[in-house]
Amino acid sequence: MIERIAELRDEAEAAIGAAGTSAELEELRVRYLGRKAELPNVLRGIATLAPEERGPTGKAANQARQALEALIARRGEQLAGGELEERLRADVVDVTLPGAPPQPVGRLHLLTATRREIEDVFLGLGFRIAEGPEVETVYYNFDALNHAPTHPARDRMDTFYVAGRDDVVLRTHTSPMQIRTMEAHPPPLYVIVPGRVYRRDSDATHTPQFHQIEGLAVDVDITLTDLKGTLLAFARAIFGPDREVRLRPHFFPFTEPSVEVDVSCFMEHRAGTRCRVCKDTGWVEILGSGMVDPNVFSYVSEYGYDPERVQGFAFGMGIERIAMLKHGVPDLRLLYDNDVRFLEQFG
Ligand code: DAH
Repeated sequence: MIERIAELRDEAEAAIGAAGTSAELEELRVRYLGRKAELPNVLRGIATLAPEERGPTGKAANQARQALEALIARRGEQLAGGELEERLRADVVDVTLPGAPPQPVGRLHLLTATRREIEDVFLGLGFRIAEGPEVETVYYNFDALNHAPTHPARDRMDTFYVAGRDDVVLRTHTSPMQIRTMEAHPPPLYVIVPGRVYRRDSDATHTPQFHQIEGLAVDVDITLTDLKGTLLAFARAIFGPDREVRLRPHFFPFTEPSVEVDVSCFMEHRAGTRCRVCKDTGWVEILGSGMVDPNVFSYVSEYGYDPERVQGFAFGMGIERIAMLKHGVPDLRLLYDNDVRFLEQFG
C-alpha cells in the first residue's frame, strides 16, 4: 500500500508540474484529491487495514496529500499570474489605431486642393514653385513692376499699408515675386508662385484676403506663342481636353503686350437657357498675362536679365476664381464660412 501511495504521489507531482492552465490544474486536483480519488480513499480505509499497517500507511498517505495540496496551491498561483499577464497583453488597447468603425479623417479644403492641382500642372511643364513674403515693400509690389507713381492701385483706398509706413504694404498680388525670383536666380527661369494677397475689397465676389498663383518664364527666344501654348495646356488640364484659349488685349503695367486670357466655356449648353458661366458668349475669363515688359527686366539687369537678350511671359490667376468656375461655386464666401456640408463635397 505504501508503494502505491508513493507511485500516486510521483504521478500526481509530475502531472501538476506539467499543468498548463488553471482549468487543467483543477481537473488534476479532482483526479488526485477529490472525493472519489484513490488517495483520499486510502485515508478513509485506514481502519480496515491490519493494525501494524495503519500507522505507516496513514502517515504516508497524509504526507502525500499535504504535499500535493501545497504543490497545487503553488502551481495555481504561478498559472494565475501568467494568465493575468497574458490577458493584459491580449487586451492591450493600441490608442494609435483608427477607431472602429474608422472615423472620417477629413479632407483638403477646396482652395488647397485647387492650388495643388494647378501646381501639379505647372510642375509637369517644367516650372518650379516659390513662395514669398505677404508683407511686401512698395518697391517690389509696385515700383519694380513698372507702376507709374500715380497708378490707382497704390491708393490707400485699395491697398493695406502697414501702420505708420508709406513704403510697406500687404502685397496686393503675387507679382512682386517676379522681381524677387529674378534677383535670386539667373535665367532661364520657369517658376510659379502661389500665395495670399490682400486688397481693400469685400462683397459677394471679393474678400480682403484671397489667393493667387503667379507664373513667370524667362529664357531666350520666348514669344507670345509660348505663352499661349503653356496656358492652353493649363486650361485643358484643369477644365477638360476639349478646351481652347483666346487672348484679348488688355493693360498691365508690367507686361507689354498684356492680355486677358479666356477659356472656352466648359458648361453644358442647353437651347433656351442662358449659360450662367459664360453668359452665352462661349468664353470665360480665367487670368491676366503678357510678355514681360523690358522695363521690368531693367530693374534686375544686374542679375543677368539683360532686356536685349532675354524675353519672358508672366501670368497671374486667382485660385478662388479657378475653383469656383471649375466646381460651380456660386458665392465666394462659401469658401471661407467653414460649413462642412459645403466643404465635404470636395477634396
Ligand atoms: N498681378 C495681376 C493682378 O493681380 C495679375 C497679373 C496680370 C499677373 C498679368 C501677371 C500678368 O503676371 O502678366 O491683377
